[in-house]
Amino acid sequence: MKVQLNFGAKGHKSSQLIILAAHKKKDKILFTGWPSDYQDAFKKMNNSKNFKASLGEVFYFALPSGITVAAMGLGESPTLENLRNQIAGFYKSVKEKYEDMSIDLESFKIKNIDETICAMTEALYLADYTFDKYLSKKSEHQMKNIYLDAKGKKGAKSQEHLEKAEIISSCMNFARNLVNEPPNVLNSESYAKMVEKDAHSLKRVKCHILGRIELKKENMGMFLAVNAGSAHEPRLIHLTYTPAKATKNTKHIVLVGKGLTFDTGGYSLKPGDSMKGMKYDMAGSATVYGAFRAAAMLGANIKITCLMGLTDNAVNEHATMPDSIVTARNGKTVEILNTDAEGRLVLGDILSYASDMKPDAILDAATLTGAVLVALGSEIAGLMGNDQKLMDNLLKHAKSCDEYLWQLPVIEPFKKEMKSKTADLKNIAESRFAGSAKAAAFLENFVTEGIPWAHFDIAGVADSQKHLSYCPAHGGSGLMIRTMLSYLLDAKA
Ligand code: BES
Ligand code: MN
Ligand code: ZN
Repeated sequence: MKVQLNFGAKGHKSSQLIILAAHKKKDKILFTGWPSDYQDAFKKMNNSKNFKASLGEVFYFALPSGITVAAMGLGESPTLENLRNQIAGFYKSVKEKYEDMSIDLESFKIKNIDETICAMTEALYLADYTFDKYLSKKSEHQMKNIYLDAKGKKGAKSQEHLEKAEIISSCMNFARNLVNEPPNVLNSESYAKMVEKDAHSLKRVKCHILGRIELKKENMGMFLAVNAGSAHEPRLIHLTYTPAKATKNTKHIVLVGKGLTFDTGGYSLKPGDSMKGMKYDMAGSATVYGAFRAAAMLGANIKITCLMGLTDNAVNEHATMPDSIVTARNGKTVEILNTDAEGRLVLGDILSYASDMKPDAILDAATLTGAVLVALGSEIAGLMGNDQKLMDNLLKHAKSCDEYLWQLPVIEPFKKEMKSKTADLKNIAESRFAGSAKAAAFLENFVTEGIPWAHFDIAGVADSQKHLSYCPAHGGSGLMIRTMLSYLLDAKA
């Protein structure tokens, strides 16, 4: 399916299906931008008086020529997020029935036309996503072209906005594909190969991959302890994007992602029901790669490093036992009391590696704790970190992208609770309460002081976002990629 702009249009391009927005004002319907013959055809329908143009209402009628028209209610004051959800939901309901459709862009205009184009295009490509590679019978998919029709002249930046939305959604869909791959296909080694191959097609991007030997040289004792029980070698993917006009003042941001291709819990084995779905424990790495990929494709003005820590958390005769004490890359000793708190071990060593680059900021994304679901539900991502300015900035970007992100406090007692009697630190707290912030308190030990760092706990939002029409009800969501990208594109040289 392809979305195209059709400015300077006389009529509507599609001869199958045309969508027009109807806005509500008190008890009246505003048919702004509707051709008069469409309004006549609408009013001739006996039951059209029942259409109130409320948000979510769709009313179908036919023009005398036989073309189907859908009036889409947008209510009184729709937001861009309302638009994304309405357009995505509508698209899913018609995509197997029509080959093309026209969207009357001017009738939909919210804020300005370019933001409307962006939100609409994103929603359409995101709603078009399916993961059917393992189905013998693929879904019938008829829709080939969607025209965004407008009578007016094309704005100077309209095409650019459309293409930007296309890139963002394709990177989100790429990340979704990674998350949805099963663990018997996507393991640390195959995952690294896949990313290496993809990164090859990105301009100004270099890819370096560290294996077990290199991780040993780096003294990543925590990362290696998680990998100890695995049939696959660990991988640390190290990607660098350098902008065209880099100077010594160019900002440098490091992204870090948890890439547990499967989390059994290790010796602290998860019960079967909680283990199911743990293929998505690499979503943090897919998220940072999605944001990195989009930033590179859009030619961001800053230097970006993307670090993805890949392994599974499995059990064999070499697996790390609870009570083990290991030495982290930064020299701190860590008592591993629960092998299921593995994400923080992998991330800790990578945060130390990232700190050595002395970047302007480090952002990490991880499906780190079940506790974030208890605190915030499956709709909101948790934000924690060591620098309020950075977090305020990220919260602002999340809001501007209509993504739910909420800060959780990392207080001094939580940091104390992560100290062990027999080692410098332990990997689980005394009590389960505030588990997400205590995990962040652990991570903070591996970020060099003075480097602004923010941690996204995406355990809730990384998959199955049923409440969003532009996300699949099951499987990877791609959420937080837009927020991270918005931050990266805004971080000036
Ligand atoms: N990958 C899980 C986090 C997770 C749990 C995500 C449930 C989604 C749903 C993580 O590695 C983990 O197992 N965390 C433990 C930490 C605990 C042992 C301190 C958890 O949340 O139970
Ligand atoms: Mn775990
Ligand atoms: Zn995990």
